[in-house]
Amino acid sequence: MFDVVVKDAALAYGDKVIFNGLDLTLAGGECTCLLGGSGVGKTSLLRFIAGFSSEPSANRKGGLTTSGSVLCQDGFSLVGRIAWMAQQDLLLPWFSVIDNITLGERLRSSFFSRKKVPAEAMERAQHILKQVGLVNKSSELPQNLSGGQRQRVALARTLMENRPLVLMDEPFGALDAITRLNLQDLACELLANRTVLLITHDPLEALRLGHHIYHLQGQPATLTEAIMPPGTPPRSLENNKLMNLQGELLERLRNEEAHS
Ligand SMILES: Nc1ncnc2c1ncn2[C@@H]1O[C@H](COP(=O)(O)OP(=O)(O)OP(=O)(O)O)[C@@H](O)[C@H]1O
Ligand SMILES: [Mg+2]
Repeated sequence: MFDVVVKDAALAYGDKVIFNGLDLTLAGGECTCLLGGSGVGKTSLLRFIAGFSSEPSANRKGGLTTSGSVLCQDGFSLVGRIAWMAQQDLLLPWFSVIDNITLGERLRSSFFSRKKVPAEAMERAQHILKQVGLVNKSSELPQNLSGGQRQRVALARTLMENRPLVLMDEPFGALDAITRLNLQDLACELLANRTVLLITHDPLEALRLGHHIYHLQGQPATLTEAIMPPGTPPRSLENNKLMNLQGELLERLRNEEAHS
């Protein structure tokens, strides 16, 4: 699996510089977590990596300017190799679970064959549904699902895209503590060996899932040195070292809030 290297990244909305001269390497096949206070620029960095902020419409809207590069170490472009998972599940309410999961497949097919998902893709979707424990919800509409189930559908849709780089923006932020722990375990199992960048406000989530944890802070924002917790994700809550690190990170985030 290839590293993704962000070099000398800069992004500003009008006069407001969110970050500049920012370097970050996402280790191939590992999970990098990004913590930071609200408004510091985490989503902006994710969008920068995904290339959204270089779209002409984005430039028009916010007076947005960007520079810097995002390169894959295997020498190929990132285009078509990214899956995105957000805090809001972004499920289409009029589509069933299986139709939501296979949405990308249908959108990419020709207009006339859009209604029919190829048998092979359907099989894969059923397999993923099984992995996320939702086989019996396949024809349910999103409105009939719990928040945790909806996020599992969103995870299934992300897996269906089968991309090597997965960008996740607070994917479990809206869930209760237990559902969240279960989804963390599931995501960790199902996204193993992909290159993942996960944004979270929760130090414990970062410590359970991340191989490398960075804290984005300040304006313009900079990254602190990486923390690399011992052991392999998903780490157990009974790990004392993890609890100590959680305390340290919470203290850091609180100080940042106090000085912002
Ligand atoms: N399109 C835009 N135009 C102008 N300013 C923007 C735009 N998008 C974001 N900002 C500002 O840029 C800063 C960084 O926003 P961003 O969404 O990246 O923060 P964040 O770290 O993801 O915050 P949160 O944790 O609340 O999601 C914020 O101050 C925000 O108000
Ligand atoms: Mg954000």
